[in-house]
Amino acid sequence: MKAIEIRNKYLNFFKNHNHKIIPSAPLIPENDPSVLFTTAGMQPLVPYLLGEKHPEGTRLTDYQKCVRTTDIEEVGDNRHLTYFEMLGNWSLGDYFREESIAMSYEFLTKELGIPNEKISVTCFAGDEDCPRDTLTAECWEKAGIPKERIYFYGKEDNWWIAGEEGPCGPDTEMFYDTGKEPCGPDCQPSCDCGKYVEIWNNVFMEYLKKDGKYTKLVQKNVDTGLGLERMAMLLQGKQTPFDTEIFKPIMDRLGELAKKDDIASRRIVAEHLRSSIMIVADGGRPSNIDRGYILRRLIRRMTRQMNKLEIDLNELGALIDLDINVLNELYPELADKKEIIKEVIIQEKDKFMKTLIRGEREFEKVIKRIKDQGKNTIDGEDIFKLYETYGFPPEVSKDLAEENGLKVNMDEVDKLFKMHQDKSRLGSEQKFKGGLAGTGEQEIKYHTATHLLNAALKEVINKDVHQMGSNITAERMRFDFSCDHKLTNEEKKQAEDLVNKWIQEDLQVTVETMKKENAIKSGAECMFIEKYPEDVTVYTIGNVSKELCGGPHVKHTGELGNFKIVKEEASSSGVRRIKAILE
Ligand code: SER
Repeated sequence: MKAIEIRNKYLNFFKNHNHKIIPSAPLIPENDPSVLFTTAGMQPLVPYLLGEKHPEGTRLTDYQKCVRTTDIEEVGDNRHLTYFEMLGNWSLGDYFREESIAMSYEFLTKELGIPNEKISVTCFAGDEDCPRDTLTAECWEKAGIPKERIYFYGKEDNWWIAGEEGPCGPDTEMFYDTGKEPCGPDCQPSCDCGKYVEIWNNVFMEYLKKDGKYTKLVQKNVDTGLGLERMAMLLQGKQTPFDTEIFKPIMDRLGELAKKDDIASRRIVAEHLRSSIMIVADGGRPSNIDRGYILRRLIRRMTRQMNKLEIDLNELGALIDLDINVLNELYPELADKKEIIKEVIIQEKDKFMKTLIRGEREFEKVIKRIKDQGKNTIDGEDIFKLYETYGFPPEVSKDLAEENGLKVNMDEVDKLFKMHQDKSRLGSEQKFKGGLAGTGEQEIKYHTATHLLNAALKEVINKDVHQMGSNITAERMRFDFSCDHKLTNEEKKQAEDLVNKWIQEDLQVTVETMKKENAIKSGAECMFIEKYPEDVTVYTIGNVSKELCGGPHVKHTGELGNFKIVKEEASSSGVRRIKAILE
């Protein structure tokens, strides 16, 4: 069964069980600086899991584009992916364990045709925070899974939370038995010998973790996630996702272009190419920080592997064309964005090639010094410095060192990397903690300020100015918009004055729900039309601004204080960025 059929079956199945199909949110969370990318289907739904009413009701289903990069170094093996699609269904205070498990079982066995014997499940074993989940086990038995294939594990396996804090709960995971020999007498779903592959996770989300403590949420939710690529692989009887129709044409083409064969390198190129395309399509641009840096890393790693395979880098454009074609079935919206996707990825590849060439020059100097000193090993420090200063990848250093008859202390390099990674991982964990659920008073003000700035720029520059992204913290706002020139001082001043004028007028902010179609007809501004469900909320500020938006916003613009633009700069080609504060 092809991926698109699995997705369609899934959405239809849940639609037939009274779920509303909602669109995938963009990979880059809007107004949520707390996470780099959307990493799970539940993420855009956090406010609703916490109790806010969802305009589409209490039973939802969707496919969600996701990026997870914690395992980026593992890509190249037979399973890791940075981009993947998650199919999900949600109960927002509606059904709970019994119905959720009955539906999952029915979908797996009837719709996908997976034989009962191939399914094992796991449940939460219980601890001081939450009792043993015997009801879940009973539901599975009732569905037809025998006791021997129902396992109980602790928090490490059967508890789900996004990051450190937020809505969470015990989960039940479904595993597919690939038929491989057990790795030993204790072989179980929790072991990663490859016999059991996790296929679906249903979280019974009735807790909220905050400041290390668990309390009950206002409602009991179900949050489920099923990885599309993995399911396609299993149903097609393939060993890796790279053998499915999602990757195969690219893998084959890379094989034709490569002068050397290295399956891991081909997988890295195919995987990172797809992730980069998806991220750029949703507005991501390479940079040196946060999500821009992840995109940069993906493109760099891909470029290097292409070099390693001795593929002519001028083929990149044609490879992007091919991949967008391959992905067309799942993401037809990519076709319209083809030119910008190619421009961004190819430009970044060119930049990296310059880095590589410059790095190699610096590397020559290091080699000379080492040889002059009569040593035969390059210090980890040197390698790490080349990486930090020139972005010169350590694997390349190692290859070059060996070509020069020198050794590299890779353990030391790894140690330095680990220290570096721990630091940045700490950073991203704190980020996650920072804002998933938390929209404070100050963030709300900034949110309203972005609408005013958007309207002001349209008036000062021209009405073709559109929002390309935004990022808000309690301290400042960042606003990206399409514009072909650097703003003059006068334009900046005019925009700032206009926003302040509207703030002083203390305009009323109102919200209404309407059909998407009518909202667009009424001239409401919106960023990604495909992202919105049929019924949308529209925020209107006096008669100066009207935007499709999930909120929240202040009630009156007078609450904002004084608006000040602190910086205007290029963000990427054709996109400018304004940083502003409220004082
Ligand atoms: N949030 C859970 C997961 O990511 C279920 O969707 O696995």
